[in-house]
Amino acid sequence: MLHVPLTLLLHCFLIIGASQAQQCRLVAPKALLNGGTPTSPSSSSAASASTGSAAAPATPSITPFSYGKTPIRGVNLGGWFVLEPWITPSIFENTGNSDIIDEYTFGQMQDTNTALGVLTNHWDTWITEDDFDAIAAAGLNHVRVPLGYWSVPLPSGKGNSTVNVSPYIPGAWTYLLRALNWAKSRGIHVILDLHGAPGSQNGFDNSGQRIANPLWAGNQTNVNRTLDVIQFIAENIGGMIDVLELLNEPAGFESSSFAQTVRDYWSDGYNVVRDAVGGGLKIMIGDAFLGVASWTDFLTYPGAQGVLMDYHEYQIFSVPELQRSLDDHISFACTLQPNLTSFAASNIWTVVGEWSTAPTDCAKWLNGLGVGARWDGTYWNQNAALGSCDGWTGNMSNFSSSYKTFLRKYWEVQTEIGEAVSGWVYWTWKAENADEWSYSKGLEGGWIPQDPTDRMYPNLCS
Ligand SMILES: *[C@@H]1O[C@H](CO)[C@@H](O)[C@H](O)[C@H]1NC(C)=O
Ligand SMILES: *[C@@H]1O[C@H](CO)[C@@H](O)[C@H](O)[C@H]1NC(C)=O
Ligand SMILES: *[C@@H]1O[C@H](CO)[C@@H](O)[C@H](O)[C@H]1NC(C)=O
Ligand SMILES: *[C@@H]1O[C@H](CO)[C@@H](O)[C@H](O)[C@H]1NC(C)=O
Ligand SMILES: *[C@@H]1O[C@H](CO)[C@@H](O)[C@H](O)[C@H]1NC(C)=O
Ligand SMILES: *[C@@H]1O[C@H](CO)[C@@H](O)[C@H](O)[C@H]1NC(C)=O
Repeated sequence: MLHVPLTLLLHCFLIIGASQAQQCRLVAPKALLNGGTPTSPSSSSAASASTGSAAAPATPSITPFSYGKTPIRGVNLGGWFVLEPWITPSIFENTGNSDIIDEYTFGQMQDTNTALGVLTNHWDTWITEDDFDAIAAAGLNHVRVPLGYWSVPLPSGKGNSTVNVSPYIPGAWTYLLRALNWAKSRGIHVILDLHGAPGSQNGFDNSGQRIANPLWAGNQTNVNRTLDVIQFIAENIGGMIDVLELLNEPAGFESSSFAQTVRDYWSDGYNVVRDAVGGGLKIMIGDAFLGVASWTDFLTYPGAQGVLMDYHEYQIFSVPELQRSLDDHISFACTLQPNLTSFAASNIWTVVGEWSTAPTDCAKWLNGLGVGARWDGTYWNQNAALGSCDGWTGNMSNFSSSYKTFLRKYWEVQTEIGEAVSGWVYWTWKAENADEWSYSKGLEGGWIPQDPTDRMYPNLCS
């Protein structure tokens, strides 16, 4: 989810050596390939998770959502099917190996059965049916579900085996299917978001692989495979989701050829989905950090139909942004609104698909495992010199009442901006120890209202 400005990117990553081992084979029974769900929701054994022992047929989605008319009010289920060290630091701390910094190294640098056991428990417990109840009770109508390509059981064409994703550990697919049924039974709509592509589309840990040079766009084998993954998703579970997001945050700023690859991929992905399932399924693309204006007249009606633009808003991944006062964060957010509304008015539905109320980068490992914060000068080469991180992150019992007032205002202004276009999806529902990022903690702490249309501070932009 990290919005890292171009100028800072070169300093953002550690280089890790990664070799592709080729030994893993996952058995994927037909039933699972046909879009089955685990029959035993409490099942936590690795075996049943990876084989999806039994299955119910895919059932149709709920009443179609009226995109563009009713605002999307949603939350991301971050850190579930794609690990992020800052969302679940305990999973990484428990490895005892500080070289394990993302889901790729999580599979690569420890015993496979150990890793599978930890992941299976995580898939089974991080988001539960109770969370879907709480999401529905909070008046939210969408979840956005990040998924790594390695969790999609593409058939290899040889018997029942699937395409090798080593060193990633497959097995989340059946938990995804279970979640889709939880969503459906509560009338919650689903944006399924391919969040990690082969080779990494951005080099961020949240793509699965934290690397200095993301390899996705430079290798057509990776891009083609991503299209195969999209086709598989559309064919197998296209009827169980509302929106398929072709790829999260590809790094369009890397180079013009990278940006061109993204552009071609959006067009090809659009065609792949339409060929697979016709017109019902909505398709989401992103601005690739290039600004929505870069996508003027792209995949617009009537040549293309049912396309949404995903725009992400953070103001914390550079020193100048961090140095804005709390009030300035709010007024800066207001300046985004005219750009988004004018783009949306003459192009495609536009959604603020990631944003949060955090005004700092203080959450532990937000900038990567082992990396500190610019806020307090513990980042390796940038210092915003804003003092201590105490009271800005962690447990809300340390949040001052004025901080909580800001969190409420910042939540309200960003929902207002999202609702000026086609809606908003907060990042993220839960985090182990960063309450300023947590929708569920915001509800508990009162800075996020139980009814998302409540306003204590109307007209913050006027
Ligand atoms: C494929 O899976 C089916 C159903 O589980 C099984 O009957 C069949 O023997 C498997 N085939 C191979 C080649 O493993
Ligand atoms: C492209 O990616 C594939 C699959 O990861 C790999 O086998 C191949 O060597 C890569 N090609 C280049 C030119 O890097
Ligand atoms: C990718 O797919 C295209 C279209 O099917 C094909 O022409 C091309 O050869 C493929 N490239 C690679 C490297 O597989
Ligand atoms: C709005 O769009 C204009 C024109 O493209 C651009 O110069 C400006 O930076 C944008 N504002 C924001 C806040 O992104
Ligand atoms: C409150 O902040 C202090 C100082 O950072 C820290 O030691 C303490 O653990 C925090 N308390 C909670 C409940 O997070
Ligand atoms: C947060 O602090 C409260 C009060 O000190 C404590 O009861 C609670 O367990 C803490 N939560 C976490 C996740 O540490």
